Amino acid sequence: MSASTIPARPAPRGLGYHLADYATARASFSWEQARRALTGGNDTRLNISHEAVDRHVLRGNGAWLAARFIDRANRRVDVSYAQLQADCARFANVLTALGIARGSVVATLLGRMPELYTSALGALRAGCVFCPLFFAFGPQPLKTRLILGHAQVLVTTATLYRRKVAPIRAALNELRHVLIIREDPAEPLPEGTVEFAELIRSAADSYQTAATGDSDVALLHFTSGTTGMPKGVTLTHGAVIAQHATSELVLDLNPQEVFWCTADPGWVTGIAYGLIGPLTCGVTLIVDREEFDPQRWYRILAEERVNIWYTAPTAIRMLMKAGLELTAAHEYPSLRLMASVGEPLNAEAVRWGVQAFGQPFHDTWWQTETGAIMIANFPACEVVPGSMGRAVPGIEAVVVRRSAAGGLEVIDSADEVGEIALRPGWPSMFSGYLDNPERYRASFRDGWYLAGDLARRDRDGCFWFIGRADDVIKSAGHLISPFEVESALMQHPAVAQAAVIGIPDAIAGQALKAFVELKNGVPAEEPLRLAILGHARRLLGAAVAPREIAFSSALPRTRSGKIMRRLLRARELGLPEGDLSTLEGPE
Ligand code: WT7
Repeated sequence: MSASTIPARPAPRGLGYHLADYATARASFSWEQARRALTGGNDTRLNISHEAVDRHVLRGNGAWLAARFIDRANRRVDVSYAQLQADCARFANVLTALGIARGSVVATLLGRMPELYTSALGALRAGCVFCPLFFAFGPQPLKTRLILGHAQVLVTTATLYRRKVAPIRAALNELRHVLIIREDPAEPLPEGTVEFAELIRSAADSYQTAATGDSDVALLHFTSGTTGMPKGVTLTHGAVIAQHATSELVLDLNPQEVFWCTADPGWVTGIAYGLIGPLTCGVTLIVDREEFDPQRWYRILAEERVNIWYTAPTAIRMLMKAGLELTAAHEYPSLRLMASVGEPLNAEAVRWGVQAFGQPFHDTWWQTETGAIMIANFPACEVVPGSMGRAVPGIEAVVVRRSAAGGLEVIDSADEVGEIALRPGWPSMFSGYLDNPERYRASFRDGWYLAGDLARRDRDGCFWFIGRADDVIKSAGHLISPFEVESALMQHPAVAQAAVIGIPDAIAGQALKAFVELKNGVPAEEPLRLAILGHARRLLGAAVAPREIAFSSALPRTRSGKIMRRLLRARELGLPEGDLSTLEGPE
């Protein structure tokens, strides 16, 4: 053990860690056994909603608390597993009554309210594909995703509908039903919508769960690429096997423990670990309906007696900035495990955890495409601050280089950076990019799935994150496609061309900066710059809009006309410019 490692804490009395010893767990693990441990048998049927909810009710534990929702005024709404079962059965019945067939896409655009969770589990129960959309998206990203996803049903609130969906509704040809949650009963229901509560009220509270199997598509999550439109990642009902196994092995969840995943269900973490995996373990989910606030978060951790906390580097950095006095306002005797995901977790943040809570943050790595945690710091293992940890049992993870001949070679040296590659075959591996089989095939090579992340792997098998292998930007934990932002900017009448890059930001990791080339003859003036910024915010929403816009008279392009974001970024940050052989310009 080197001086900088942080020793593992003893397992909680009477429980022991699910993964007590890494080598033993790895050697004895099999996915068949993991499936059996979850489902209890060799039944060919598998449904996420059943595994998350019914298994507890069937064992007589329906009274266990499945979720606690906390609102602005700190009012709590508690939902038991039995209640959750009835609520999601009602929604499944609503879908069936509306004539929504198995395999159809049901989308939500909702804040973290109970209806979001019951819609997700109800849609899965009915055999539909559930597609969560982030509530902070603007009309443009919503339109793209609803169209690409072929969504037939959308559940949203009256406010979100009026602001974001009504303006794009005419373009949504495949959308058959919009179900509205009305905040204010005095306000009329928007035209062309039906009321969610009314349909739910008249629906029966039991439902024969659809006879889905491991390979049936269950979830549709949109993720970003460097070029082109967002990609619809499909995960199957089989994903629940890996989400359950990792909820035990990595997050160490036990029945009736209090678990707080701070990720929004608009993104994959908020579904895989904000809903599915933890419920299969029988925990109580804490759902904070409000946005980030340091004092509020500390109060929730203490008052709700959170046992396990899964959060993200941006939030941790914001807590660090807020100062230790705020941390010290409470005590956290129940908190026994803290984990992080989504962006690089710097060593200082891991160590700050020890200072603030007497324990480190455990970094974990995965992607929308992997459907579950793949690399992790396990609670029973010492933590090497700055490292993402080791491959989860059942997962073969390596770093590879592309050989001169074009094939892949596994890197043995601890010093060489390569691309993270995973051996296909784990149950939550994505089953496709929607309507894009070519792009899917291109993610695999020589028997490996290529993750698009660069890393080093040391002699102990620990992975160290280096960066993305493409131009995709991670800002505040959200994966953002420069292309999508550029497309929105180019819809402004004065803009001829746009390029978007990530620039370092102390809190968000990266912030978006856009470079805009104006059309011929349009003067580069401040009011126009602000107008373009406003235009981008309106179209894209706060989560995706660039923070900064600069005018540029000549964006660097390749000879074939593609904008070289990488060069733009190198110039902006004063980095080496790299290979410029394809740059356009005087010969
Ligand atoms: C990308 C995936 C992780 C699920 C939610 C986000 C980056 C993820 C880490 C980490 C450094 C990380 C990678 C990855 N990322 N975890 N521990 N350290 N980077 O899923 O939106 O598909 O993003 O997030 O670049 O490829 P996603």
